[in-house]
Parts: sequence; C-alpha cells; structure tokens
Amino acid sequence: MELYFAPMEGVTGPQFRRAHHNYFSGVDQYYLPFISPTQDHVFTPRELRNVGPQANEGIPVVPQLLTKRAGDFIWAVKELGKMGYREVNWNLGCPSGTVVAKGKGAGMLADLRALDEFFETVFSADLGGVAISVKTRLGLESPEEFPALAEVFARYPISLLILHPRIREDYYKVPVREEEFVKALPLIGCPLCYNGGLVNAEGCARAAEKFPKLRGLMIGQGLIADPALARKARGGPPASWEELQAFHDALYQGYLRDFASEKNAVFHMKELWSYFFRLFEGGEKLFKQIKKAQNGSSYESAVNQIFRTLPLREEADWSR
Ligand SMILES: Cc1cc2nc3c(=O)[nH]c(=O)nc-3n(C[C@H](O)[C@H](O)[C@H](O)COP(=O)(O)O)c2cc1C
Repeated sequence: MELYFAPMEGVTGPQFRRAHHNYFSGVDQYYLPFISPTQDHVFTPRELRNVGPQANEGIPVVPQLLTKRAGDFIWAVKELGKMGYREVNWNLGCPSGTVVAKGKGAGMLADLRALDEFFETVFSADLGGVAISVKTRLGLESPEEFPALAEVFARYPISLLILHPRIREDYYKVPVREEEFVKALPLIGCPLCYNGGLVNAEGCARAAEKFPKLRGLMIGQGLIADPALARKARGGPPASWEELQAFHDALYQGYLRDFASEKNAVFHMKELWSYFFRLFEGGEKLFKQIKKAQNGSSYESAVNQIFRTLPLREEADWSR
C-alpha cells in the first residue's frame, strides 16, 4: 500500500518537503498545498516557488489545483505537464468559508451539474497525458450526498480518488466518519486512497487491513507531529533524537534562507511546533515560549532546551 503526504497549506511548503524527504523515508508522494490558477494564465512567483521543478528536484510530488473554472484548470495542467508532472490533483474538499462561498473546494460538491460539466470539459481536453486525481469529502452538508457524487465520478477516468470521510462542516476536527467510508467503498470504481485521522503506525496498519483494496493511505497532521510515521508504518524505526534535530535545523535554516526575515521564519516554525510538540514528554512552558517567540534568539533558546531536556516519545501524544 502506498503512503502519501497530505497537502497542508502553510505547513508542507517546499522547505518542509525538502527537509522531510532528506531525513525521513517512507512517503511515496508528497501532494502539494493548492495553488489557485486565475484567468490571467500565469503562475505567480510565489506559486512557482511551490510547484517549480527546481523547488522539488528529486522529490516525488503531485501539484494540486483549486478552481471551479475548467479552462483555468486545463491551462494549469498543461503548464504543469510541460514542467514534467505526470499527475495533477484537483482540490474538491477545501472547507474554508471563503473558498466554499465562491463555489470552489467543498463548495463545488453542492452543484452536481457544474461538477459534471467541469469533468466533461477537462477530460475531453488534450492534457498531454497528465493524469487527474481528485481529493474530496463525503459531501458538503451530509454524507447522504455521496452516492450521487460517486455517480458523477464514475463517468470519468479519475486516476485516484482521495476520500477524506468527513463533510464540509466537520472541517478537520469532528472524528472521521469511517462507517460512511465503508458505505462509499462499493460505489467507487477508480483507484482509491483513504485520508483522515491516521496518527500512528497501528492506525495505518488497521486501515490497510480493513481496506485491503485501497491504492494508498494519505497522512497529514500525523506526519507533522511524527515525521517518521510513514517509515514506522512500513515497519521501520521511530525517529531518533539526532534525526529530529537535523530535520528541525534543516527546516529552520531553509526558512531563514528563503524568507530573509527571522520573524517570518520563526512564525513558520510555530506551525510545525503546533503538531511537533506531541512527540515530546512534558515541556508545556517551553512550547508556550515558542508560541510567544517574536525573534530567533527566544525561539532558539526554547528549542535548544526542548532537545536537550525533554524525553522523546515513541508515539505522538494526541490526548493533549
Ligand atoms: C493547516 C491545514 C492545511 C491544509 N491544506 C490543504 C490543502 O492545501 N489542500 C488539501 O487538499 N487539503 C488541505 N488540508 C487537508 C489535509 O490535506 C487533510 O485532508 C486533513 O488534514 C485530514 O488528514 P489528516 O487527519 O491526516 O491530517 C489542510 C489541512 C490543514 C489542517
């Protein structure tokens, strides 16, 4: 079974992927946080820093697009194809208020006709051999919407359906609706990937055993909290203290180099620590110091103490 790193806007940017890929094995593909192509049909410098081939050299990545306009989608797929990508993912699940209000992401799940037209236009275009995968939810307002959605999906050659068994208003918090995933399984004919709530090797093994026909499992927050999780899910060892520190330092140095602002680099490191703290025993005061840090020295002093003094856990602690 393949293991994929979930796209996470603001967390799994190019610096993160590079550092993770250098220090931890086990991830078959990194799905990139979404970019939103517009009618201008140019990628912005910021987007190119995310999807440009030089940002991802040697790393197996799949770009993701968020748009409801088939023309802009097709343009972007062709451009990405020219850069060498063989798969592009469509974001059909983003729950954010502004995205849904514009009828994009999970917002598009409410309009089956628009969805069907989008696929019809996209799949009749010459995409230069680039495969189209889709990341979606069970529905906008109710899992009852899924059978009708599955009928639309079944009409098109979707290369991989990544299903996050939640509805829009669950965001990422309400427990994953696994029983609804079980109901959805027989309705899906294309290769399928399960995403949501996989936070330890045991959970991955259980999902693989329960759903043996899946192409893959996608992990997001679990892999941020424990960067060795994919390796562990394949029977490998947990992260060593040295690996974690080297990974942390590579990421921090990458941010310092690319953002040319210590404050900005520290701000981005806080995103990592909002999950990463779970891998350490205790240390509440030090994590608070990280949250409050406004400059490199205050941040580094907290991090040094964490690595010097806190015992490392074998599994991330999701109870706090
Ligand atoms: C901070 C954050 C950013 C995310 N950004 C994206 C994104 O850019 N594209 C996307 O399809 N999903 C995005 N997601 C959803 C994740 O890819 C994933 O579906 C979700 O976290 C559930 O998986 P998990 O329980 O393994 O984390 C994001 C989630 C979070 C928490």
